[in-house]
Amino acid sequence: MKFGHFDDKEYEYVITNYNTPLPWINYFGQDGFFSLMSNTCGGYMFYKDAKLRRITRFRYNNVPRDFGGRYYYINDNGTIWNPGFLPLKTKLDSYKCRHGLGYTIFESEKNNLKAELLCFVPLKDLCEINQLTLTNNSKETKNITLHGVIEWCLWNAVDDQTNFQRNWNIGEVEIDDNTVYHKTEYRERRDHYAFYHTNLKHDGFDSDLDTFIGLYNSWADPSAVMNKTSYNSKASGWSPIASHMFNLTIKPGESKTVIFQTGYVENKEDEKFESMHVINKKKAYELQEKYNTKEQVLKAFTELKTKWVNLLSTLHVESDNVKFDRMVNIWNQYQCMVTFNMSRSASYYESGTGRGMGFRDSCQDLLGFLHLIPEKTRERIKDIASIQFEDGSTYHQYQPLTKRGNADIGGGFNDDPLWLIAAVSQYIKETGDYTILNDPTPFNNKEGSEKPLIDHLRASMNYIITHKGPHGLPLIGRADWNDCLNLNCFSKTPGESFQTASNFESGKAESVFIAGMFVLYGKEFATILKNIGLAGEATNILKEVKSVEDATIKYGWDGEWFVRAYDAFEHKVGSKECEDGQIFVEPQGFCTMAKIGESLGYGKKALDSVEKLLTNDYGVEILHPCYKEYHIELGEVSSYPMGYKENGSVFCHNNPWIVIANTVVGNNERAFDVYKRNCPAYLEEVSEIHKTEPFVYSQTIAGRDAKNYGEAKNSWLTGTASWTMYAASQAILGIKPDYDGLMIDPHLPKEIKNAYVTRVFRGVKYEITIINNATGKYQMTVEGKNIKGKTIPYNKADNNVNVVVML
Ligand code: GLC
Ligand code: GLC
Repeated sequence: MKFGHFDDKEYEYVITNYNTPLPWINYFGQDGFFSLMSNTCGGYMFYKDAKLRRITRFRYNNVPRDFGGRYYYINDNGTIWNPGFLPLKTKLDSYKCRHGLGYTIFESEKNNLKAELLCFVPLKDLCEINQLTLTNNSKETKNITLHGVIEWCLWNAVDDQTNFQRNWNIGEVEIDDNTVYHKTEYRERRDHYAFYHTNLKHDGFDSDLDTFIGLYNSWADPSAVMNKTSYNSKASGWSPIASHMFNLTIKPGESKTVIFQTGYVENKEDEKFESMHVINKKKAYELQEKYNTKEQVLKAFTELKTKWVNLLSTLHVESDNVKFDRMVNIWNQYQCMVTFNMSRSASYYESGTGRGMGFRDSCQDLLGFLHLIPEKTRERIKDIASIQFEDGSTYHQYQPLTKRGNADIGGGFNDDPLWLIAAVSQYIKETGDYTILNDPTPFNNKEGSEKPLIDHLRASMNYIITHKGPHGLPLIGRADWNDCLNLNCFSKTPGESFQTASNFESGKAESVFIAGMFVLYGKEFATILKNIGLAGEATNILKEVKSVEDATIKYGWDGEWFVRAYDAFEHKVGSKECEDGQIFVEPQGFCTMAKIGESLGYGKKALDSVEKLLTNDYGVEILHPCYKEYHIELGEVSSYPMGYKENGSVFCHNNPWIVIANTVVGNNERAFDVYKRNCPAYLEEVSEIHKTEPFVYSQTIAGRDAKNYGEAKNSWLTGTASWTMYAASQAILGIKPDYDGLMIDPHLPKEIKNAYVTRVFRGVKYEITIINNATGKYQMTVEGKNIKGKTIPYNKADNNVNVVVML
């Protein structure tokens, strides 16, 4: 069942039924001011850091689920409704929520009164605009009251939900003509405040939650709204809010527009106040004046739309498969940009109060947005590498505001170092710019410890080389990519973190997955070394690669698939010998991409096993059979009920590895088959089962053993976005940035017969026509000339390059 449809021309998903199976959200913002917006106008805003600088309040496990937002109440002669349906839940005569790129538009109608609400964060300013236009389509004049309201968060989102003995005393606001200013803690150590402004002279306001709502009412029947009034309350402690009320008379056929703006302002220490306790509003006024007319709003909105269309045109495909095109061109790239901004911090599943930026997460995310924002990617790489330690190990996370490694989680995740090589090699391939290797980069952010970035890569390699176990395979440490495979944890204590507890440091547990990574990225590093004239060092690296490859062939192969790991007692994990967890997906993907045991047919066999044992209707499950019991020697992976999360769900992040691996061994049909199984656009028809947004990937889809088989959770902030982008563009379409030029090596399924791709690569625009006759023969012509091989030699002077590839 569908709850809306794609509008590819407008780059939008249009929700037409507000009863979506879960809140379907969107993101706004790019340079500091960020918002989440659900299809019922819920969500929250923050400045840079969703924990430390939360602007509006959101209640995560509230009833109803989606609670906290910017709410507009229309009281039309006793019929009271919201354009986004919640909180009142009045049945609407029509409803549309258009989630677009960086904006959302609601179009609703009730009793011939039409509301159009445009919401976005402008490109350059720290504010969210909500422009509401009401049109009277009836034959009578309407006298309505309109309330707009938001609820402030007391800045630190964790304190805000916990420290009530303090919180209920500190709330402070200031009110002038059409603006409520939130200035809690500004008198003391904060240098920032927020405001909720409106361009029209209001007829009343409120800033105290309990007064506005009435202590025994709810957001679904706020006293002010029900009584068509405002109490002009001034918050003093408790929960400060901001509300503006208007009495509007709208004649038949007439429209009235009110612009609401939530803004964020920082002032210098000595410029904080105008007079005793009165905040300096100069910057706020400037910001307000930029969005006080419809023309100004339209201009900013048009700039935003244009920016997105231009950005995404870096890679554009037109094929005979609409669903594939809309994912590649619009939603998959968009989701990658959102993971660039949010990492795993703030969504409807990530509370924004816990995790910062993950080392491995951020390294992988950039594979998906690198082609769009190469300069920002370079900065990001520097931030990430700066939390590496001199011995090559790394902090697992860092805080976006401070960029310092997060000591609570610490390090010891032994796959982390290698992801840096994945990131840097891909950066060089995309940009051709080797100078990044010389960028002075500190270790653990210590001043004076700066070394050229290449030394960080050396340290990464060295860490794995010097941390091997009894079988010559890399030690796993606390965990590898699978955060829940905790082989040294041995936790018996409820609530103890599987990620940080190590009750039995065996010094033995090994990871075949890291072995696959080491071989893949070790070869990559050797290529880089060769390219910069360090052939001798490259040879040494390749020797190390060979030794891990041999160890994997010897100890990491189980007969029909790759073993997952060896536990603290040197027992196999992910083998026929095990009762549960006989096969894991991760090494099948990575060892095949690394071509381990290629001549022995390992990759092909492993992928056959993946198809046979792990593939369900919605993709490839992470392991099989699910663990029925908790295994102290395996950790969190066995803690989840069967079929959920790392215990046997389709953990989408690793599915694109299987897509890519299938193209590596030439299984083009199967690669696309796996791609389709959890591609959001393909699941749109079963939204009632899948539940999350049909335009973005989710982290996990419950597996066959779960009661809610097929139900997805944790949408938006997942490495699935970048890896799928990579798989679709570089493996299926085969448009692969390489050191010497752009390689075109498509692995299209038979059902895609033609694809016309534009790709901007190092400033040159390539127009590539792929004709898939499925002959098994490859021929490329560039500007009409036949070319040998699959790489278009890069020439900076080129402008538009026409390429035709026949398959
Ligand atoms: C989550 C984490 C990621 C990890 C994965 C598997 O998505 O963000 O770092 O690799 O889970 O456990
Ligand atoms: C938990 C989650 C896992 C996630 C990790 C991040 O282990 O199950 O998916 O990656 O936390 O810390």
